[in-house]
Amino acid sequence: MNSKNIVWQQSAVSRRDRETRNRQKGAVVWLTGLSGSGKTTLAHALEKRIVENDGLAFVLDGDNIRHGLCSDLGFSDDDRHENIRRVGEVAKLFAESGVIVITAFISPFRADRERVRSLMPHGDFIEVYVRCPLEVCEARDVKGYYQRARSGDIAGYTGISSPYEEPDRPELVIDTHESNLEESLALALFFLGDRQIFSPSNTVSPPGV
Ligand code: ADX
Repeated sequence: MNSKNIVWQQSAVSRRDRETRNRQKGAVVWLTGLSGSGKTTLAHALEKRIVENDGLAFVLDGDNIRHGLCSDLGFSDDDRHENIRRVGEVAKLFAESGVIVITAFISPFRADRERVRSLMPHGDFIEVYVRCPLEVCEARDVKGYYQRARSGDIAGYTGISSPYEEPDRPELVIDTHESNLEESLALALFFLGDRQIFSPSNTVSPPGV
């Protein structure tokens, strides 16, 4: 911390007050996975489903945040650390405000994700590994970036020329090449219900139950 003479000011509204009013708990649903694994699609579908069921949810997405808050950052390891650090701090504020924030960042480094986890109270950080084999992401190549990375046109591309460190013990693993969007959503919603973070008016069961 570089700023001096700074004193923390306490709010007159507690987190519990906000959560009672919102009829849900604040939380960070942290999606991590390769580019093209389906993080953004899942994040927006989950956000929509929660909001349609009278909940409060908000997506922070890598590509969007890099247009503003993190527009000064590139894709070096240091810049990715800083990207995730900033997003972690913002996500923490959202959770304190009683909102379910869903983040969709590759967040390739385990230590960065663990640092974000350690910023918040136990249970707030829900690490969701959006798992999809590199070959499948590469075959999808929605943005054409994998092809450009293979040809050397984009340096340090995650999965090709920059590492992706899989989570050790994520709260949830969603295999997007095996589950369709509805099944993936059901898994995420079941988890939120089970942890008493958010329960939609319609009962949700995980696939196969
Ligand atoms: S992170 O590594 O810092 O977490 P972030 O999720 O913000 O990455 O951004 C990833 C998005 O940036 C990808 O979906 C892709 O569209 C784009 N991108 C551009 N260059 C790269 C690169 N070198 N590696 C990975 N993604 C890149």
